[in-house]
Amino acid sequence: MDPRPDYTLDQPLEAYTPGDHAVWRALFERQARLLPGRAYGGFLEGLRKLGVAAEGIPDFRRLNGILRRATGWELVAVPGLVPDPVFFGHLAHRRFPTTWWIRKPEQMDYLQEPDVFHDLFGHVPLLMDPVFADYMQAYGRGGMKAERLGEITHLARLYWYTVEFGLIRDADAPGGLRIYGSGILSSKAESIHCLDSDAPNRVGFDLLRVMRTRYRIDTFQKTYFVIDGFEQLFAATRPDFRPYYERLHGMPDLGAGELAEGDRVITRGTGAGWGDTEDV
Ligand code: PHE
Ligand code: FE
Repeated sequence: MDPRPDYTLDQPLEAYTPGDHAVWRALFERQARLLPGRAYGGFLEGLRKLGVAAEGIPDFRRLNGILRRATGWELVAVPGLVPDPVFFGHLAHRRFPTTWWIRKPEQMDYLQEPDVFHDLFGHVPLLMDPVFADYMQAYGRGGMKAERLGEITHLARLYWYTVEFGLIRDADAPGGLRIYGSGILSSKAESIHCLDSDAPNRVGFDLLRVMRTRYRIDTFQKTYFVIDGFEQLFAATRPDFRPYYERLHGMPDLGAGELAEGDRVITRGTGAGWGDTEDV
């Protein structure tokens, strides 16, 4: 089970115990009950098309058959977090590094590092979406460039506030806001908090605003950034970031919970959902 130089290994299916599969089932069933009406429709559709279900921890090779045909992506099993350059390299080649092991039953609600439930359930269904699939590859390439420029801190915030903790407006859904960030999708408590609580800010996505904003890894997010769709996200991140990085050096960082001038703050509308926008 020693990983190869690119940190990948063959998913050790025989290493999973019945208890491991039971943890998957419990996590899956809990999120499957909670997420309809909360998760972005494309996420739920990806989940269904991949056939990721409650039975147990999926076989990566089976999912790869479906994923490759849909968008050319594949999962590669890794022992856990991999160094940034390795991670970016995999994404740039449409390979998603997926932690193979699962948390213990006493870690159902909180885990400090990604496991297979977060990485697979949270991240992989959206790789079935062609635009999101291209965004992730572009992010990998952008990461390799940011490494050379010493700009990982700014770029990592973009990943954090989109791929991990992003919200999206869903015109088709009454009520408006939906979850697409995997850090939320794999967490019961944050799936509720991010939409139901009045505590966090919900701010319209703006690239420089996001890259200026520090983030917290130890609590629920204090600010969620809301995109209108993956086309908007992909278009906003398509230009060369070099001039943006230069501008960012003249701008102070913002705290995770701080609002800034020009923010489009999304407030609870008069109806049941989110929708009104207020400029700060
Ligand atoms: N356009 C970015 C750059 O020049 C690359 C990128 C695309 C980064 C998408 C993140 C997401 O660095
Ligand atoms: Fe993640």
